[in-house]
Amino acid sequence: MRVPDTIAAVKGFRDVLPDESRRWRALEEAAERVFARYGFGEIRLPVVERTELFARSLGETTDIVEKEMYSFADRDETGLTLRPEATAGVVRAYLESGLAQSDPSARLFYRGPMFRRERPQRGRYRQFYQIGAEVLGRDDPLADAELLVMLDRYLAGVGARATRLELNSVGDRVCRPVYRERLREFGRAHLAGLCPDCHRRLERNPLRMLDCKVESCQEIMARAPVVADSLCEGCRAHLAQVRALLEQERVDYTMNPRLVRGLDYYCRTAFEVVADGLGAQNAVGGGGRYDGLVAALGGPDIAGVGFALAARAVGPALALATRLRDGGLAVGLEPEGRSLKALLRTADRRHARLAVILGEEELEAGRATVRDLVRHQDRRQFLPLDASGPELVRSVQAMIGGGE
Ligand code: HAM
Repeated sequence: MRVPDTIAAVKGFRDVLPDESRRWRALEEAAERVFARYGFGEIRLPVVERTELFARSLGETTDIVEKEMYSFADRDETGLTLRPEATAGVVRAYLESGLAQSDPSARLFYRGPMFRRERPQRGRYRQFYQIGAEVLGRDDPLADAELLVMLDRYLAGVGARATRLELNSVGDRVCRPVYRERLREFGRAHLAGLCPDCHRRLERNPLRMLDCKVESCQEIMARAPVVADSLCEGCRAHLAQVRALLEQERVDYTMNPRLVRGLDYYCRTAFEVVADGLGAQNAVGGGGRYDGLVAALGGPDIAGVGFALAARAVGPALALATRLRDGGLAVGLEPEGRSLKALLRTADRRHARLAVILGEEELEAGRATVRDLVRHQDRRQFLPLDASGPELVRSVQAMIGGGE
């Protein structure tokens, strides 16, 4: 009898099993709780939108629109796309539902799957999940600062202390054209070293050369003029006020004058949440201001600012477990909230060889404490949180196999 072949999930798509979905639920519940205190209500958006929505809002020459969207023709030939992000959909809904008139300074949050046909690599999937929040109708720096305070409190609340907030301003319609021209000049002077895609970007959208993934282009662009040096008076003042408010509220952040985002709709404030120990793709979230977007989608001249976090790696425990599991080790993951003693009892019941402990102290120090549950050694052993997968696996094997 012929045994039928099994069918695997599509490349870049995956299942979320109970260990992980429990963790996600905790992140979503925390978002609901924290965001509600700042006046956000949940919006549930369709997963499919007209392709034109993304082409118009994200920018025709962004990587996402050029090569990463899942687009298809519906049976009636309408061009449709699985949403690669949700800000465009939020703005569409804000206009279509009449919120733009009835509640112009609406605060909306969302969660759900997004789709980008990226090269699969650690932490990047073709279907991934975001939690995001958008403030419409506010162009004042207080709105940016309030959003960033909320983001900071949320991250602290879910125990993601190993993350860093990076901030910049990407200019506005006054000063961005000046910067674009400076980049173009720089690009022309280094034309020979740039890839064919960047030759095209140079004319159409020179900012996109800054996030080219080709290594030789990255080396050249690392020496390009930075946007922070081209800001107009209005953008400088806006940024200075956002920073003053963040400092007042003791939100930790670092300025990154090279930070530009991969989407064209940004204006002024731009930021990323970066986590160490995740390799090249180390941003777990990002966002910024998008003052021209509502108008670009046919609405009035209304401002907006928001962010999205990938639900994947906000938990450093999950990041650590994933690296160990990718290296072939069996790892059970328990959420926080129970006593260490109870957690160790569970580990014992499951006949775990080692217990890896990631509490507040460990997150501060950037390393997990390891307990040998069989040999009950007193000698303290650690796993650095920023080590690569293979290094982690080697350390664990040495702990299991290596004598005293
Ligand atoms: P984004 O930077 O494109 O921004 O995405 C936000 C976060 O989603 C990224 O920092 C990254 O962690 C995660 N992400 C993106 N692509 C993938 C992937 N293929 N696999 C796993 N995670 C991924 C936006 O999406 C904007 N809509 C954010 C925003 C809201 N700006 C203003 N409001």
